[in-house]
Amino acid sequence: MNFPIDLFRKERTPFYYYDKSLLRQTLDSINKSLPNSSYKVHYAMKANANSHLLEVIRQAGLGVDAVSGGEIQAALDAGFDARKIVFAGVGKSDEEIELALGAGIGNFNVESEPELEVISEIASRMGVVANIALRVNPNIDAHTHHYITTGLAENKFGINLELLDHVVDKCRELPGVELVGLHFHIGSQITDNAPFALLCERINALQAEFESKGVTFKSINVGGGLGIDYENPDANPVPDFKGYFDAFAANLKLRPGQELHFELGRSVVAQCGSLITKVLYVKNGTSKRFAIVDAGMTDLIRPALYQAYHKIENLTGTGAKAKYDVVGPICESSDVFQENAELTEVSRGDLLALRSAGAYGEIMASRYNLRRLPGSLVND
Ligand SMILES: Cc1ncc(COP(=O)(O)O)c(C=O)c1O
Repeated sequence: MNFPIDLFRKERTPFYYYDKSLLRQTLDSINKSLPNSSYKVHYAMKANANSHLLEVIRQAGLGVDAVSGGEIQAALDAGFDARKIVFAGVGKSDEEIELALGAGIGNFNVESEPELEVISEIASRMGVVANIALRVNPNIDAHTHHYITTGLAENKFGINLELLDHVVDKCRELPGVELVGLHFHIGSQITDNAPFALLCERINALQAEFESKGVTFKSINVGGGLGIDYENPDANPVPDFKGYFDAFAANLKLRPGQELHFELGRSVVAQCGSLITKVLYVKNGTSKRFAIVDAGMTDLIRPALYQAYHKIENLTGTGAKAKYDVVGPICESSDVFQENAELTEVSRGDLLALRSAGAYGEIMASRYNLRRLPGSLVND
């Protein structure tokens, strides 16, 4: 990626840099890779809610997967059609449900029977009917980090298979809800399509079983999870959307007229963003050299939270390569971006880029240590 270094020198660090042209290219690839018009992509806003990015995503025609009232409001403020918003999340509050129903969102992804009852009660009180997709826990191992595996039976997410029949019946009894679909999500940063193929098999079996009982679904939602190449962002700036969608086209038996929904987050925005940080000090340890930078885990928590890897580049250094532990200023031992990072020799004042940071970066920033939140710079 070509970074506008002169612009960077004028900005207060740390900040997120977003390349809108790469985002557009990514969205274009999504739209061109969709096998047919029954495939609908909702952007999982939890990955990044920067309003500049939301505008580009809306223009590309995607809907939104929201997990809070705040995200629903941000989607409405960004001009998304309410009917293209789905509301997911394991603990929706009454206030959030009212906001969603009042706005006329497309549907709720429901995670439990008590939640279904509350939505029905609030919808009845408001004189509306809520469209419901039941989130099923398919008990599939996505072979990703255990903090981002969500489809195993022991996870808190979704309705376990043995309870599903009962909750489907409940939908028919309750006056304020209409069952329109089934929803699944097996995890995130999945780079091999085999778990998705397995998910399709589960869905095929479930659909056949429900049809034999006279229950049909307008839509199937397979969640998100497509991974990106954190190691080689320049070689693979755009994920293989075609291979991903084709895995569903080849394995999932959609019924005539049935829609297939996706909730992609990371794969849409990760590669277009980098965290830009300035080197404050280079410090020699006993056996190591530390590059102490002005960004910390408060700006990008993924390495501390998931042991995640972000490629680091020295954008302004000129010397030979050397190894550094790149660490932040926060008073926590986990505030380490990378150990033994091989970087062009680092000096005080150098600008470093932490690549592939557009997803689950800025949005997860906190004010711990009473630090300022990172800014953002968006380039066309
Ligand atoms: C239910 C649900 N849908 C979609 C997503 C987005 O996943 P990803 O960013 O991996 O595409 C998540 C992420 O945690 C999720 O929990």
